[in-house]
Amino acid sequence: MGRLEGKVAVVTGGARGIGQAIAERYVAEGAKVAVADINLGDAEALAGRLRDAACAIHLDVTDQASIDAMVTAVTDRWGGIDILVNNAAVFDMGPITEISRDSYRKVFTVNVEGLLFTLQAVAKRMIEQGRGGKIINLASQAGRRGEALVAVYCASKAAVISLTQSAGMGLIEHRINVNGISPGVVDTPMWDEVDAQFARYEGRPLGEKKRLVGEAVPFGRMGLPEDHAGAAVFLASAEADYVVAQTLNVDGGNWMS
Ligand SMILES: NC(=O)c1ccc[n+]([C@@H]2O[C@H](COP(=O)([O-])OP(=O)(O)OC[C@H]3O[C@@H](n4cnc5c(N)ncnc54)[C@H](O)[C@@H]3O)[C@@H](O)[C@H]2O)c1
Repeated sequence: MGRLEGKVAVVTGGARGIGQAIAERYVAEGAKVAVADINLGDAEALAGRLRDAACAIHLDVTDQASIDAMVTAVTDRWGGIDILVNNAAVFDMGPITEISRDSYRKVFTVNVEGLLFTLQAVAKRMIEQGRGGKIINLASQAGRRGEALVAVYCASKAAVISLTQSAGMGLIEHRINVNGISPGVVDTPMWDEVDAQFARYEGRPLGEKKRLVGEAVPFGRMGLPEDHAGAAVFLASAEADYVVAQTLNVDGGNWMS
């Protein structure tokens, strides 16, 4: 405990799921945490439970004004930003022949454009501060290979892995480490939506796909949000100062690279 003492972190999409688990662990490690989410109600509920160590901020990563306002609000409140967890994302799927431009835009606008421009705004703040920083992007095993029914989300997460590499190269001269975490299958509200969509496209009963993917993990079960918190603390800590542009698989053994 205390590995992030004195640090200020922003967790986008921090109101639930993996982001929530990371926000909670960061507070336990001594950080101040801005839970920055499009769902302000859930962000406020979490920040309320975390008391003085957290605050809730409305953030829509698809809106530059919202990103800039978040950076200003956190800086005004706690004097700067040391850690960004770029976690907000959305999911959609469908056969190649049925992908719509709306679905493509929705996924890429949040998962790629939103992630890049949040990273950019926070990196600029970190450069002005002159004390380095840590940026952690949530990728996915979906970004490691294609899937017949999940083309757009897979491509968006491949883009996250690539942006992590490029931003890692571009920012390390400022002692800003950009790295990623690549989860496998994690039991969060997002996976309930994934399960419902697989049920529709593969004609399965609800819950079956989720059970099958969990059974297929070498570890023996689906990931839990808190399974990712340790890697997120490590990559945010001084222990990771020499780790640059990597995307770490935290997936129970689903993918090896
Ligand atoms: N659940 C999985 O199996 C899994 C697997 C691999 C990778 N991931 C990735 O991990 C991250 C977290 O996933 P999760 O399962 O916890 O997701 P989730 O859907 O449970 O939570 C995502 C959060 O992001 C917020 N959000 C959505 N759009 C936003 C926007 N425009 N601006 C700000 N916030 C927004 C939502 O309100 C929500 O609180 C995502 O990047 C996801 O792609 C998840």
